[in-house]
Amino acid sequence: MSSALLAPRTSAPVALGAANAVRLENVERGFPMPEGRREVLRGVDVELRAGEIVAVVGPSGCGKSTLLRLVGGLDAPTSGRISLDGTGVTDTDERTAIAFQEPRLLPWRTLAQNVELGLPRGTRRRDGRERVRELLHLVGLDHAADQHPREVSGGMAQRASLARALARNPGVLLLDEPFGALDALTRLRMQDLLLEIHAAEPTTVLLVTHDVEEALFLADRVLLLRSLVGETGTDATSVARTITVPGVRPRDRADRGLADLRADLLEGLGVDTHHRISTEETR
Ligand SMILES: Nc1ncnc2c1ncn2[C@@H]1O[C@H](COP(=O)(O)OP(=O)(O)O)[C@@H](O)[C@H]1O
Ligand SMILES: [Mg+2]
Repeated sequence: MSSALLAPRTSAPVALGAANAVRLENVERGFPMPEGRREVLRGVDVELRAGEIVAVVGPSGCGKSTLLRLVGGLDAPTSGRISLDGTGVTDTDERTAIAFQEPRLLPWRTLAQNVELGLPRGTRRRDGRERVRELLHLVGLDHAADQHPREVSGGMAQRASLARALARNPGVLLLDEPFGALDALTRLRMQDLLLEIHAAEPTTVLLVTHDVEEALFLADRVLLLRSLVGETGTDATSVARTITVPGVRPRDRADRGLADLRADLLEGLGVDTHHRISTEETR
């Protein structure tokens, strides 16, 4: 027997990747339509630092999911470039994982077996089992490992979906309105969970949300996407504003400073807020 087999193993069972920096340079995505070409995204320039949490907010249909799909390599830009740590994203990238509003679990597999699906190809059986157990523990599902999706609540299914995304040790975690279908209380718990996950697993997070409060609670920066009229007179979505959220996580949900930012963001989304009206009245 070789000495390598006898040597004590000092490394973790499944190596965690490092968080990746993400760069979008002048990204454009248009779709050919019967009535002519529809520009969805144009002039998107964004940089995410490794390990950063960046939230994306914007009106429905403005191109948030399209942006996320581009970063994950599920779709390609019409022009411009997307790279992770300087390497271009060409196909579905091994370094990224994505989770959606619906958990998309396989109903005939247990939660543990669903999480297992996310493991990197070639993971050894025993290491995989250990990693799945570790992830189920991280998302608070130890007791539900052998249950099937139909037997658990929406929040639990979504926890399993997050664990499956984490199973591949992504350097970039893409979340498309991940808590959008959950009740308000479960959503708050999931936000806390996401912060715990982020502290435990090294990953950069790009989070699409329609919940401005969620964006301000979780993110280092918030990108406000909005339709901007270009030189040709046609409109397409771009990053209208980038807001750096002050303070360190976990943030105080009742912070007055966040309330002002919230009003600011809502205004950017075209929502008139009482906050603004009342400040104008007292002037
Ligand atoms: N494959 C596609 N073909 C044509 N149009 C598309 C395609 N994918 C997205 N779109 C259009 O791009 C726009 C943005 O979609 P999406 O990114 O899903 O918006 P959001 O996630 O912000 O609600 C929509 O008008 C949608 O119809
Ligand atoms: Mg969407």
